[in-house]
Amino acid sequence: MNIIESLKWRAAVRNFNSAKKVSQKDVETLVEAGNLTATSMGLQPFKIIVLNNEEIQQKLVPFSYNQKQVADASHILIFAIETEINQQTIENYFQRTIEIRNVEAKDFENHKNSMSNYLSMMDEERKRSWATNQTYIALGTVMAAAADLKIDSCAMEGFEPEKYQEILNLKSENLLPVVILPIGYRSEEEKMAELPKVRKALENFVITKN
Ligand SMILES: Cc1cc2nc3c(=O)[nH]c(=O)nc-3n(C[C@H](O)[C@H](O)[C@H](O)COP(=O)(O)O)c2cc1C
Repeated sequence: MNIIESLKWRAAVRNFNSAKKVSQKDVETLVEAGNLTATSMGLQPFKIIVLNNEEIQQKLVPFSYNQKQVADASHILIFAIETEINQQTIENYFQRTIEIRNVEAKDFENHKNSMSNYLSMMDEERKRSWATNQTYIALGTVMAAAADLKIDSCAMEGFEPEKYQEILNLKSENLLPVVILPIGYRSEEEKMAELPKVRKALENFVITKN
């Protein structure tokens, strides 16, 4: 399928066939798509938690405004921001750069200083909203990759981040969920996903300045 056909096929699926599981290989592809996402300064201030546990998924339903797709989906991808973003985040990034690109620390001293300055200008609240912005780029990438593989998904903000953090033991890892993505395959009861998309007409969506 071409990209537009895939995106037209994609829909927020609320009725998953709980018997149909996404293969491990496809889950890995989706996670890799998330990892390949562009982020501000390349810092990737978030992680994806792959939840594949019916019991825990069921337990999360009451903390997801009773949205049953959390229980019925094959897996839940939980996008969680890092809550400790500091000089170490930058050090880790440059350590990766040294290892992967075979460069030396002295080659990017200025770059590193300007990144440190940028981060130091943010208070904790600003850091969280910055990290959340980056996370949503990954969410979009993963949703598009899923559509390309004909895997259904439903982006969800309707859940209680602190409860997820508690149940999944994420606080000790300095992670706070901001958005989740149940993935799987639509069931026969899913009728909404087949309806035409409600979108602005393209002429009301784009403004061209030549
Ligand atoms: C960030 C985000 C959060 C969303 N949260 C929920 C949610 O909690 N529950 C839900 O059923 N749908 C949720 N949706 C799905 C939207 O309602 C849906 O994408 C929108 O109505 C457009 O429909 P479509 O995705 O089927 O084209 C969310 C979508 C996004 C992108």
